[in-house]
Amino acid sequence: MNDNRFIEWMAQHQRRAETALEQRLPAAGLAPERLHEAMRYTTLGGGKRIRPLLVQAAGALAGAPAEALDTAACAVECIHVYSLVHDDMPCMDDDSLRRGKPTVHVHYDEATALLVGDALQTQAFDLLSAPGVFPDVQRQLRAIHTLARASGSRGMAGGQAIDLASVGKVLDRTELEHMHIHKTGALIRAAILLGALAGKLDDAQMAKLDHYGKCIGLLFQVVDDILDATADTATLGKTAGKDADHNKPTYVSIMGLAQSRELAQTLTQDADAALADFGDAAWQLKALNHYIISRQF
Ligand code: IPE
Ligand code: IPE
Ligand code: MG
Ligand code: MG
Ligand code: MG
Repeated sequence: MNDNRFIEWMAQHQRRAETALEQRLPAAGLAPERLHEAMRYTTLGGGKRIRPLLVQAAGALAGAPAEALDTAACAVECIHVYSLVHDDMPCMDDDSLRRGKPTVHVHYDEATALLVGDALQTQAFDLLSAPGVFPDVQRQLRAIHTLARASGSRGMAGGQAIDLASVGKVLDRTELEHMHIHKTGALIRAAILLGALAGKLDDAQMAKLDHYGKCIGLLFQVVDDILDATADTATLGKTAGKDADHNKPTYVSIMGLAQSRELAQTLTQDADAALADFGDAAWQLKALNHYIISRQF
């Protein structure tokens, strides 16, 4: 793999995501100012932007137009940030640090954190449903449906419910995989599908991309579990070691570190295999797969 090509592409598209979000979020001076300021506080200036990068990478493969990709990338990131704001609240993981800054309920207050999540969620669908952003209405509708399904009780929110219900329990591998596929995997998978839907791929190609998405969606949370147990707070920009402190079942608590790392390797190989037929046209997606397993935060 050409590392420099990827490093440049990633930096360029992270900046692109920042600018696109900056332009699309309501201005901080617009009433209600406190809510809009808090939405910008938590969304701008932080995060790896993995989901926007996945939208862009899948969109590049599918030959999608830039406006649709930027909008889809922002929509997915808004859902993701909303999920983080709520995940950090005292009623969930009770975290005070996110992306190296105090969490929204700490910096503002709990009611504001709740509303920031609500508003970012609807902001995502406001963006994605706007007229003229997608090449055709049929694909736009599929994109909206895909994001809605991935975010709700049969996707991310459902996974979060399972996560909370599992505190203090010992899950078996199937149950743990089910939780991770929902709470984290669903939105990552949707990011890839949205990028592809903004362009044109045939059904067989979509199925391969979807399989890639399924593998890296689970991989992402396996690595998150490993980092929680092995990295430090300053590097992560969020509190390290909190899964064990909160008695959360994770891959590390259930299989141990060595086996979790082996599973991550296997998922990376499966994701690579799913992209084999695309050749170099999928170089960004291939590189993102390797970035996800080797990331330090
Ligand atoms: C953290 O996601 C929450 C999970 C779904 C594991 P990221 O690791 O993508 O967080 P940011 O966006 O880079 O802050
Ligand atoms: C969060 O999982 C998943 C979502 C926010 C949907 P975690 O609770 O493990 O995420 P972090 O570790 O706080 O980022
Ligand atoms: Mg959580
Ligand atoms: Mg958490
Ligand atoms: Mg975690």
